[in-house]
Amino acid sequence: MLPDPAQPAAAGGTPRAATRRALRARERAAAAPVDVDVVVIGAGQAGLSAAYHLARAGLVAVGARGWHDAAATFVVLDDAPRPGGAWQHRWDGLTMADAHHVHDLPGMTLAVPDPSEPANRAVPYYFAQYEEAFDLHVQRPVRVTRVEPGEDDRLLVRSHLDGRPQDEVVFRARGLVNATGTWRKPFWPAYPGASSFAGRQLHSGQYRSAQELADGHVVVVGGGTSAVQLLLEVAKVTTTTWVTRRPPSWRDEEFTPELGRAAVALVEERTRAGLLPGSVVSVTGLPLTPAYREGIDAGVLRARRMFSRLVPQGVAWDAPDDDPPAGWVGGPPLVEARTVLWATGYRAALDHLAPLRLRGAGGGIVMDGSQVAADPRIHLVGYGPSASTVGANRAGRDAVHRLRAHLGL
Ligand SMILES: Cc1cc2nc3c(=O)[nH]c(=O)nc-3n(C[C@H](O)[C@H](O)[C@H](O)COP(=O)(O)OP(=O)(O)OC[C@H]3O[C@@H](n4cnc5c(N)ncnc54)[C@H](O)[C@@H]3O)c2cc1C
Ligand SMILES: NC(=O)c1ccc[n+]([C@@H]2O[C@H](COP(=O)([O-])OP(=O)(O)OC[C@H]3O[C@@H](n4cnc5c(N)ncnc54)[C@H](OP(=O)(O)O)[C@@H]3O)[C@@H](O)[C@H]2O)c1
Repeated sequence: MLPDPAQPAAAGGTPRAATRRALRARERAAAAPVDVDVVVIGAGQAGLSAAYHLARAGLVAVGARGWHDAAATFVVLDDAPRPGGAWQHRWDGLTMADAHHVHDLPGMTLAVPDPSEPANRAVPYYFAQYEEAFDLHVQRPVRVTRVEPGEDDRLLVRSHLDGRPQDEVVFRARGLVNATGTWRKPFWPAYPGASSFAGRQLHSGQYRSAQELADGHVVVVGGGTSAVQLLLEVAKVTTTTWVTRRPPSWRDEEFTPELGRAAVALVEERTRAGLLPGSVVSVTGLPLTPAYREGIDAGVLRARRMFSRLVPQGVAWDAPDDDPPAGWVGGPPLVEARTVLWATGYRAALDHLAPLRLRGAGGGIVMDGSQVAADPRIHLVGYGPSASTVGANRAGRDAVHRLRAHLGL
């Protein structure tokens, strides 16, 4: 955790003197930026991979013994309350067996003695051990609010302890590894009538358990893995309708390393051109696992095409939908529902980088691998083509390799 500027107030003395001391300490903290070579924002798979490679290259983590005198330093800032990145927020039903393989972080094996263990426990436990083993001194819960251009080719990284915006700490960095993932940016598409719907609407990122949705019919929107997995869970406790804007893209063959590379290349092409990465499923497809086949046979994993609007009692199709194009099933023009579950994916959480004006005309950031093409000081890891655990590992390594060369570290 960062030094707490308000601590002297609690150390004794009269309240007024303590308040004065706290204010002075706060002013000092606000006035004195901390110089570091590299700031890593985010301590999920991507940020931890980058931190590991920085430490291996001899940079010392802020907070580690002797960091004040070290020749080169880095700091990892993470706003989550505990280790685990976005994994700590996953729903309980997502077990290690259901996960699409969580790759080992560099240098330490992820042992999974019990595949039925929820990923929201197993992965955070592993990350906590990892941070400790490699002396990474992740500063948490520290939220980065803005990254701005500073003097002398430095980047000003403005941060504060979560919930204490008045106690700002500014890091002056020579390089930045942004690893803030997507969990904080659930994507909610706009459909007519959304505010008129009388039932509940939630995003897959807010889903906790099927039981919470057992009180009526559930419409699940989206053709990705979140939609498919949540449909299978929810269908155990209530009735469901699945809607997608493209027919589900089932993939019968094994997801080989070659297919993985081809999917990554497709996304890389987009980010190199400065376009937004797009949905994950659009490049990976959906694997026809035995569980998914059962779901298709049971009718749960058969999608209707996208509805036209939400209405107070459910969702409605303006045109007749009893004879849809191949890949979809038909149905009545109105489906009454208690819940609409938006499994419509995520966007990269990059709002804090807005002052750097990295976005181009295509809506995305022009990238050269993990590096922002226009600024070799800045790397985005876990973004676009590296938005998987294996991709995040590699991007963390590559970002550090290129930053060291650029900064002469
Ligand atoms: C439901 C679900 C299941 C998935 N399952 C798999 C799987 O089985 N296998 C796989 O390879 N991939 C999977 N993925 C994708 C995978 O989660 C990611 O590619 C990878 O884990 C993301 O790691 P990350 O480090 O990029 O992001 P995250 O794990 O999201 O970490 C980002 C960190 O940054 C912090 N942060 C964000 N903003 C700020 C800020 N402003 N200041 C400070 N800190 C900040 C967050 O608190 C978080 O700790 C899944 C994704 C989802 C949504
Ligand atoms: N067990 C697991 O390991 C597990 C479980 C869940 C998720 N995940 C991972 O989590 C990541 C995110 O998966 P996800 O399923 O949440 O997101 P996703 O793969 O990005 O899919 C989002 C879906 O929402 C659809 N969509 C987007 N905008 C829409 C709109 N305006 N109207 C209707 N539909 C819209 C997309 O359609 P288009 O394709 O047409 O854009 C796509 O089908 C992936 O990496 C996935 O593998 C893993």
